[in-house]
Amino acid sequence: MADAGVSAFAMELMPRITRAQVMDVLSSQANLAGYRAVIEGAEAFGRAFPMMMTAAGTIPAAKVFVMGVGVAGLQAIATARRLGAIVTATDVRPATKEQVESLGAKFLAVEDEEFKNAQTAGGYAKEMSKEYQAKQAALTAEHIKKQDIVITTALIPGRPAPKLVSGEMVKSMKPGSVLVDLAVERGGNVEGARPGEVVETDGIKIVGYTNVAGRVAASASSLYARNLFSFIETMVDKASKALAVNWDDELVKATALTKDGAVIHPNFQPK
Ligand code: NAI
Repeated sequence: MADAGVSAFAMELMPRITRAQVMDVLSSQANLAGYRAVIEGAEAFGRAFPMMMTAAGTIPAAKVFVMGVGVAGLQAIATARRLGAIVTATDVRPATKEQVESLGAKFLAVEDEEFKNAQTAGGYAKEMSKEYQAKQAALTAEHIKKQDIVITTALIPGRPAPKLVSGEMVKSMKPGSVLVDLAVERGGNVEGARPGEVVETDGIKIVGYTNVAGRVAASASSLYARNLFSFIETMVDKASKALAVNWDDELVKATALTKDGAVIHPNFQPK
């Protein structure tokens, strides 16, 4: 280990390129968080998800709306569908429309010129203009009124989470409805969400658990371990089995925070 000195790496800075897919901790954990958000929503909801026609009467299918269709949102849609909910979803990236539909959910968004250009070259969302956000809010406000469960996962790299659900929209929901805000650690998508808490007002619950992947701990650890192992494997010399970090490797360059005790990452240099 001597040649490497003391070094720290940030796994969440791993580039999202094909070679590093197996090391993509953001994806491995967001996928589980998306799944778990639906389980938390179902748990906080006092009704069943699937439609049930019984001798004692019919239970309608729950209506679930997923806001933000990245890795977490896609898994939330798939999970809610498996539980029998009627699922709708929204995102600002046009590429998500087809993904939503292929999972059997309905897509809802303001599809104007700005929407057509909302995806960056890196596959992420841009911060939308005030005008777009207002149009988006008007469209979703009508929809949210009729939903039982709203799951929000919307994030913009390097920015606070976009505010998508106002206090008014929360109030417009029926008593017994549930919102699960997966973006709560980055400021939240839902007004009134509090990190680590379930806030209940007028019978409407806002679930703001942090580290939601950690609520599926064994699966999260197993995938995270695989991510780490795959990265460390690239730093070991196959013949000698000794640690041999290639400091010119793009994966190392992107994630290395320190080397020999000094901060080397460009994002963390003094201004
Ligand atoms: P993220 O966690 O940064 O954001 C979650 C979602 O929120 C995104 O889909 C984003 O478009 C959406 N969002 C942002 N602002 C919004 C708004 N105002 N209203 C509604 N939705 C809003 O995204 P994540 O999950 O990290 O994925 C981003 C992209 O990267 C996806 O296209 C994903 O498929 C892609 N990806 C590619 C990988 C690869 O290997 N090439 C690996 C992992 C993800």
